[in-house]
Amino acid sequence: MRQNVYDQQDVFENFQNNRLSGRSENDLIEQPAIRSCLPPLTGKSVLDLGCGGGQLVKYCIEQGASEATGVDLSKNMLEYARAHHSHERITYLQGSLEDIELPHNQFDLIVSSLAMHYIGEYERVVNKVGSALRDNGYFIYSVLHPHITARKLLEGWVRDEAGEKRFWPLDDYLDDGPRDLQVTPDKKAVIYHRSMSSAVNGLIQAGLTLDQIIEPTCSPEGLILQPHQVVEIRRPTFIIFKSQKLVR
Ligand SMILES: C[S@@+](CC[C@H](N)C(=O)[O-])C[C@H]1O[C@@H](n2cnc3c(N)ncnc32)[C@H](O)[C@@H]1O
Repeated sequence: MRQNVYDQQDVFENFQNNRLSGRSENDLIEQPAIRSCLPPLTGKSVLDLGCGGGQLVKYCIEQGASEATGVDLSKNMLEYARAHHSHERITYLQGSLEDIELPHNQFDLIVSSLAMHYIGEYERVVNKVGSALRDNGYFIYSVLHPHITARKLLEGWVRDEAGEKRFWPLDDYLDDGPRDLQVTPDKKAVIYHRSMSSAVNGLIQAGLTLDQIIEPTCSPEGLILQPHQVVEIRRPTFIIFKSQKLVR
């Protein structure tokens, strides 16, 4: 039985309140970055792993993709996606990334936005991705940055007596494994910390080459809405890995 955090109604509502606010970290930091490194999509076949409400799936279709499939474990998320981001060339499927069977040699782009840190069996999923990609296809995914997920209790900033942020400490960095992430004031979900070498070597072992890494900051327009996000320059919250099944 896979952990299905977003089918707990309070967790789902909490997530959606933030995600649909237009001021979330997704909107101001992570989505602009992941969208900036997508390859040209005209006529391409796209798969989104952990598609949530379908925003990125729909965006890929708007960018000219010939077809797009979104996979997610959460019924709540898929209901929202089907209601708000449907299209004749989009298919939404319910399933876990660990267990779902992916067709061989089918997709030009496999994308995943902030879902891979929920996956304990990283190598297994990335190997499936490698097989499901067509030659020269891309796998692009974002996760919480490993320096965010490293510490066992995810304690965050060290602050001075006035509560000002002094520095972001790093510990247990090479100790890959589960961490408890607070998802509502009284609920936690299990996410998985992976060091940079584990993340990148997993891609390489699946036959992919690393093309680009982005450690995004907040855009100038985003800083007008959320000035406190200037803090991303001190330590980014997210990281994006762009890899390719390169065939010369
Ligand atoms: C933080 S949300 C991001 C959703 C979406 N990509 C977005 O950008 O808004 C993480 C998503 O991953 C999905 N997820 C988590 N674990 C999963 C798993 N094992 N298999 C499939 N989906 C999973 C969740 O249901 C949720 O929709």
